[in-house]
Amino acid sequence: MGESRSPSGEKLYEGKAKILYATEDSEILLTRYKDDATAFNAQKRGTIAGKGQINCAISRHLFEMLESAGVPTHYVDCPTPIEMRVKRLTIVPLEVIVRNVAAGSLCKQTGIELGRVIEPAIVEFCYKNDDFGDPLLSEGRIYALKLATPDQVEEIELMSRRINELLTDFFKQCRITLVDFKLEFGITTDGKIVLGDEISPDTCRLWDNTVEDPQARVLDKDRFRQDLGDVEGAYRRVLEKVAAIA
Ligand code: TMP
Repeated sequence: MGESRSPSGEKLYEGKAKILYATEDSEILLTRYKDDATAFNAQKRGTIAGKGQINCAISRHLFEMLESAGVPTHYVDCPTPIEMRVKRLTIVPLEVIVRNVAAGSLCKQTGIELGRVIEPAIVEFCYKNDDFGDPLLSEGRIYALKLATPDQVEEIELMSRRINELLTDFFKQCRITLVDFKLEFGITTDGKIVLGDEISPDTCRLWDNTVEDPQARVLDKDRFRQDLGDVEGAYRRVLEKVAAIA
């Protein structure tokens, strides 16, 4: 099924999880979700069968939910199950990480124990630059590198906290804990900051809150990063739960 592709224009960029094409409308781009998976800045590579289609569908549901709650996103529609049409953005080169529960690099870098609830949630910024391994930034570094203005940083943080409230509530209804996630923002041609990229088990940590076992509860890319097995099954379960609530 994954092989059909909309007639599209020139390939503009191939990332680790998606390919970006031009379309006949200069304001609209087409993203094609791939089954490829990478971790640890692409030092680990693999494929997750069906991932492109699953992540496209999950992202579509979540973007639609956010839009209906008044959060502007780049989402337009999905012409096929692995493709999403999006508004053309100038990407702000920040990876915005929101953390509700300690996991991942927060535990590794600070010794804080896995699973500790973080209240209020942390919103932190990394430099979206693979050559440097997406390092954690300070506000001073953001301004010195001219990655964003103070007003943009303030607006992005406010939007990220609102998105966190909406996603946390949504996933709670799915009986999933939204542990942490990564967002990217961009600027439309008319100067508005909107949410970009994707929201999927590739970019979120999601724990099944009906399961106690610390490995069995993991429904996200940590199954691939840590070789926990049944990555595709976990992604499918997220889609089933999301689609049932959306
Ligand atoms: P971290 O704990 O490794 O910093 O990751 C925090 C969250 O951000 C986690 O949900 C995974 C997501 N993430 C990405 O989407 N892309 C990345 O390149 C990294 C490092 C993390």
